[in-house]
Amino acid sequence: MEIFLTGVTGFLGGEILILLSKKKEIKKIYCLIRAKNEEEGYLRLEHVFELHGDHFDKNKVFPIIGNLSDTTLSNELINNNRLQNINLIIHAAANTSFGRMYDDLVQTVNIGGLNHILQWVSHLKKLETFVYVGTATICGKQVTNRVVFEDESPNINAAHLVKYSYTKMMGEINVRKVIPEDKLLIVRPSIIMGDSRPIIPRSNVILWALATLNLIRLIPVNPYSDLDIIPVDFASESIVKLIFGKRNHNTYHISSGTESKTNTLLVTNQIANYFPEKPPFKFLNHEFISQMKDWARNRIKPGNTLSDYNEYLDYWKQTFEEKSNLRILFAGLEPYLNFIELGQIFDNSRLINDTGIAYPEPAHEYVKRSISYLKNIDVFEGAIDP
Ligand SMILES: NC(=O)c1ccc[n+]([C@@H]2O[C@H](COP(=O)([O-])OP(=O)(O)OC[C@H]3O[C@@H](n4cnc5c(N)ncnc54)[C@H](OP(=O)(O)O)[C@@H]3O)[C@@H](O)[C@H]2O)c1
Repeated sequence: MEIFLTGVTGFLGGEILILLSKKKEIKKIYCLIRAKNEEEGYLRLEHVFELHGDHFDKNKVFPIIGNLSDTTLSNELINNNRLQNINLIIHAAANTSFGRMYDDLVQTVNIGGLNHILQWVSHLKKLETFVYVGTATICGKQVTNRVVFEDESPNINAAHLVKYSYTKMMGEINVRKVIPEDKLLIVRPSIIMGDSRPIIPRSNVILWALATLNLIRLIPVNPYSDLDIIPVDFASESIVKLIFGKRNHNTYHISSGTESKTNTLLVTNQIANYFPEKPPFKFLNHEFISQMKDWARNRIKPGNTLSDYNEYLDYWKQTFEEKSNLRILFAGLEPYLNFIELGQIFDNSRLINDTGIAYPEPAHEYVKRSISYLKNIDVFEGAIDP
């Protein structure tokens, strides 16, 4: 079996690559990588394997240099003789930024880039399966405080909190138009945060938001709002099990479901003990985010009641020195808080029934194994370049 995989230098794609590289029935894995040349491509692959001490078999895993943003990509793939016999494609690459300044890039990579891959796919004679890594959040922001099922999406009328989830929805719609149903597998992870194993997580993507909450301590979000969070090892294992197992559906949530759901209060309670020097976590109504942003801009409007929480404002002044630092954090954090408020849980019974995988550990349990990594996260770097 020969595989083409995108997103291997990322959080989820890296873990999927490691699992696939250990499978004997897979002979070759070609990885789309952004790099100046093949040498740099190999170097980037080496880092993926090095992180947790996995073996990099250079006779099995190869870089294919390319960029999803390049309009020449489909032709490059079509004309690459090494890629004629691909049986399985896993498209896990995406631009996952929530910030508005990345909107154009997100669109180019997630919709345009996917289309380049799809143009190439029709040339592949031996393709058996196309796996599109989507996201459960394509259900949109009108769906609140309930369990969401796979068949509810994609819904073209869904309204989105961020461009990213819109592009993932459009991507899924486009994939469904091109790939025949019997060759299609769509996996939709919920929120992937950290790793449940006691190892360094491949990425701090959502751990960054937790590290930021841990720093600001006064949090404008409903602490009881249900959250569907999974660790990356559960996500990658689930996807690989689905690919190689018997499936009764072509679309699956990769999620905590109700059995392993969590909320912000449970997660912050778990980490509070490790940071005794900080003020206790305090939760405010979500609307307070505007007051906090105004305060950080020195534009306090009449009716601003943040001064009721002076001990936290003093703590912020000491911790952040410049209010502009806090503005950077709020800008990065706001979309995450908006997602938390939605209270969406994604049903995972299809996944559990078809793969037999055990329910994941809830985030408020496994997060304690990430405490040391949480301490080292540079929250400003994450806010600027998520
Ligand atoms: N993380 C989550 O919570 C979550 C939840 C639901 C769904 N997902 C989905 O899961 C997939 C993986 O997400 P992730 O968290 O692993 O993302 P990630 O860590 O940000 O990794 C993104 C990957 O995509 C690659 N990529 C980005 N732009 C590219 C381009 N122009 N050309 C080629 N490759 C490009 C990156 O390569 P470089 O290293 O070169 O940048 C990287 O390998 C995505 O499809 C995402 O939508 C993620």
